[in-house]
Amino acid sequence: HYPPVVAIDGPGGAGKGTVSQLVAHRLGWHLLDSGALYRLTALAAERQGVASDDEAALERVARHLDVAFISEGEGARVLLAGDDVSSEIRTERVGALASEVAALGSVRSALLSRQRDFACAPGLVADGRDMGTEVFPDAALKIFLTASAEERARRRHEQLRQAGHYASLSGLLKEIEARDARDSQRAVAPLRPADDAVTIDTTELSIPDVVARIEALLARRG
Ligand code: C5P
Repeated sequence: HYPPVVAIDGPGGAGKGTVSQLVAHRLGWHLLDSGALYRLTALAAERQGVASDDEAALERVARHLDVAFISEGEGARVLLAGDDVSSEIRTERVGALASEVAALGSVRSALLSRQRDFACAPGLVADGRDMGTEVFPDAALKIFLTASAEERARRRHEQLRQAGHYASLSGLLKEIEARDARDSQRAVAPLRPADDAVTIDTTELSIPDVVARIEALLARRG
């Protein structure tokens, strides 16, 4: 049997990352940022000069991904073959490449057992697109976080601004809509709420509100 898993799925920019980190921290549970694995696969492939349509080679890259997630104090760092790629994997470029490789079934299967390995005692908070539908179908609690595309673009804009980057709001909205379409229309593991997921629309909710709701749901499932 798995240790308890809270699956948190939804489109990009709904607040999954921040919410998952906070819930995991408060519970003292492990955290899986599954999107990072797709981003790392995309970046590793790019660095190795693998073409984005060479499925067999992409599968090999995913299977042999040499990554380390290091969490020390405040900052979590991600190493790819020993190289700190924490900021690079967050770029729009790598996000778009990730969403392309994530559409390939063999890449998804190659990453499956690696994701399941994160489920260790005392528990796991898993953040992604298919945590509740494919990776952890027996999760104790499944949350589907959404927010309007406009609100998600606004949040991303603010995040970038704080990091000292300028991006146009309308450009971000277009990217978000394109990524949503690709993630929800793909043939393999499309983005959708699991049948037994609780959907939370975060458009008008603060992060602490969302965390409190998830904790209340978890307490009720006990
Ligand atoms: O969540 P994040 O933006 O980091 O994910 C990057 C891309 O990886 C997503 O757009 C999606 O295509 C893909 N992904 C996925 N399944 C997951 C997590 C991410 O297909 N569980």
